[in-house]
Amino acid sequence: MKKWFAVIGNPISHSLSPNMHETWLKQLSIEASYIPIQVEQDHLEQAVKSLKLLGCSGWNVTVPFKEEIIPFLDEVDDSAKGIGAVNTVVKTLENKYIGYNTDGLGFIESLGSIKSDHNILMIGAGGAARGIAHAFKSLGFTQLTIANRTLEKAKVLGDELKIGQAVTLEEAENTLNKFDIVVQTTPLGMKNNDASLPIKLNLLKGNAIVADIVYNPLVTPFLEEAKKYNVQTINGLGMLVHQGALAFSYWNGVKPDTNGMIQQLIEQIGGNYVNR
Ligand code: ATR
Repeated sequence: MKKWFAVIGNPISHSLSPNMHETWLKQLSIEASYIPIQVEQDHLEQAVKSLKLLGCSGWNVTVPFKEEIIPFLDEVDDSAKGIGAVNTVVKTLENKYIGYNTDGLGFIESLGSIKSDHNILMIGAGGAARGIAHAFKSLGFTQLTIANRTLEKAKVLGDELKIGQAVTLEEAENTLNKFDIVVQTTPLGMKNNDASLPIKLNLLKGNAIVADIVYNPLVTPFLEEAKKYNVQTINGLGMLVHQGALAFSYWNGVKPDTNGMIQQLIEQIGGNYVNR
């Protein structure tokens, strides 16, 4: 039977994943399709049963089902268990459906070559931050500081990880020159959202890397500010593409072209994605 993959979520029409995976499948001459499926909030369990029944080869999971889907899967890998969220489901040869999380690892891959002794500042302590923090830990990083508007939430995440230290946004701002990598995980700067900066960047280290997980707009106000200090900036498109590439490799056993895909998406959505 021809393989087929899917992405489930609600809403789903805006998802860039179908285009990305269809392109990779074609580039690698893999006979398969990848389709977006919008699932109504109360229908997740039936949707998962249907995907299994119809022999789906694997699927991605997006908002709002990443946590809720866990009880409906046959097994969940340790990466996803720790985070408490699944973004990729893989069908095994024994027809079991296993949940993984490639978001955090995908984000870290998008940073390029970084070292595990780099000192990392993460801004935000929500779901996205959680996935990224767990991935840093799983790769052996030991210096992670979590700054959050609500300090308590940063403390909970730091305690859970055992490698994390929690600070206020103000403390992060005042000690910014300690950090080699600054990761912005809040929705600030996202299309139709508050465009203010979570922290000021005037104490940024000269050779820091500044990354934002938001990709609409491609250059957030936070990255625009960082560019003023001539540091390396990384937008959220890299995370989208690398998490997809990891899922693709789990399903097909081969790693697709990530750099080409980032270029293709920039051309497709335009440098000024927010206005389209
Ligand atoms: P996601 O799953 O996308 O990470 P989330 O779980 O709602 O979303 O988390 C959003 C994160 O952005 C939180 O860390 C939140 O801070 P609080 O814990 O204090 O709510 C942070 N955030 C959202 N709006 C913010 C704002 N205006 N200023 C600073 N931080 C903000």
